[in-house]
Amino acid sequence: MRFLALEKLINLHDGYRRAVKVDQIDVLLLQEEGQLYIVQSRCPHQEQPLAQGDVENGVLYCPRHQYGFSLQTGAHLDGMCESLKTWTPVYEGNEVGILVAST
Ligand code: FES
Repeated sequence: MRFLALEKLINLHDGYRRAVKVDQIDVLLLQEEGQLYIVQSRCPHQEQPLAQGDVENGVLYCPRHQYGFSLQTGAHLDGMCESLKTWTPVYEGNEVGILVAST
């Protein structure tokens, strides 16, 4: 597995959001109530960027059609849509990132 750094820890805070593209992977980092989440940056419904979506009780709402996705599991609340891909944050030194398969 390979570590891909996404952000320095010092930059994280509640309300933090940033879409990042690393190695052809588009991810969205969000921090809410001290918890960092890493999810795919576009909605699985119709590709709407999710960075502007509202978060309420651990659910990220797409700004386009208001589909809600669990930030923990990525699952669509009503199961009518594909799930959001999620990654477990990995901490290395003063950075956070994700692990991806080695190529
Ligand atoms: S594009 Fe996100 S819910 Fe439709």
